[in-house]
Amino acid sequence: MIKHCLFPAAGYGTRFLPATKSMPKEMMPVVNKPLIEYGVEEAIEAGMSSMCIVTGRGKHSLMDHFDKNYELEHQIQGTNKEELLDNIRHTIDSADFTYIRQREMKGLGHAILTGRELVGDKPFAVVLADDLCVHEQEGVLSQMAALYKQFRCSIVAVQEVPEDETHKYGVIKGEMIKDNIIRVDDMIEKPEQGTAPSNLAIIGRYILTPDIFELIEATEPGKGGEIQITDALLKQAKSGCVLAYKFKGKRFDCGSVEGYIEATNYCYENVYAKDKQANELGKQSTHKESIA
Ligand code: UTP
Repeated sequence: MIKHCLFPAAGYGTRFLPATKSMPKEMMPVVNKPLIEYGVEEAIEAGMSSMCIVTGRGKHSLMDHFDKNYELEHQIQGTNKEELLDNIRHTIDSADFTYIRQREMKGLGHAILTGRELVGDKPFAVVLADDLCVHEQEGVLSQMAALYKQFRCSIVAVQEVPEDETHKYGVIKGEMIKDNIIRVDDMIEKPEQGTAPSNLAIIGRYILTPDIFELIEATEPGKGGEIQITDALLKQAKSGCVLAYKFKGKRFDCGSVEGYIEATNYCYENVYAKDKQANELGKQSTHKESIA
C-alpha cells in the first residue's frame, strides 16, 4: 500500500568526524554492508519499491552504490567473488532509486520537505539510515505498514530510553490505545534534562501522510535553529491523529561511535557469521549431492 520510502541523508554526521568528513555517514559499513543498504532492504521487505534519497554535497557514493559498476562486474565475472554482489544486485533490481539534493542543511523537517517532489501526494515511509533496526521475524517498517493499513494516519516508531538520554531525542506523550500503540497528544524535540514528558523516544522510522508537507512549510525553525519534523508532527497530532508505536526488535544508533560498534558486533555474530555458516553448509550438501 505504501510505495515510497524517503531517506534523508544530507546531514553532516558531525558525531562521527573525521570518518564522515568526505564520506556519507549512510555509507559507513556495518560488517560488509553500508548502513543505507540495511534501510533499503527493510523498506523492500515492507513492500516498498520506490527509494527516494535526499542527498547533499559530497554524497555521490550513495548514488554509485545503487547503480551497476560494469568495470568491477567484468573484473570479477566467473570468479567466486561474484556471489558477494548477489545481494546488492537483487536489491537494485527490486526497487527504483531517485535522488534530490538538499542545498542547505536546515534540519530533518526541511530534508523531508525537500523530498516532496519524489514522494508525491501519497503516504510514505521515512528511514533514517543511521538508526539500524534488526528483528527476529518482521522488520520495523513492515510492522508499521501493517499498522498504517489499520489506522491510516502518521505513525512514529518509539522506544523506551533511560531518563538521562531523553534530551537526545524527540519525546512523545499520549494515551495507550492498544498494546504498544499510543495516540500522541504531545511531543518535544530534545527536551532539557528533567523536562521530558515520558521516556518514549522517537527513532528513525516514520510513516507520514502527505498533509505533513504543508505543516512543515508552516513550521518555523525550532531547536538548534533547524526545521524540526517533531514540531510539524505535533501540529498534525493536535489537528488529527499521530500514533506512536513501540516496535518489536532492536535499534542501534549508528550515528554514534558506541552504537555503531554495538551494531557491528551484533550483526557480525547474529547475521554475517550465521549466513556464512549456512552458505558453507549449503555448498557442502550440494557438493555431496553432485558426488552421489
Ligand atoms: P542527525 O542529526 O542524526 O544527523 O539527523 P546528522 O546531522 O547528519 O548527524 P550529527 O548529529 O551531526 O552527527 C537525522 C537524519 O536527518 C538527516 C541526516 O542525514 C540523518 O539521516 N538530515 C539532517 C538531513 O538529511 N538534512 C538535514 O538538514 C539534517
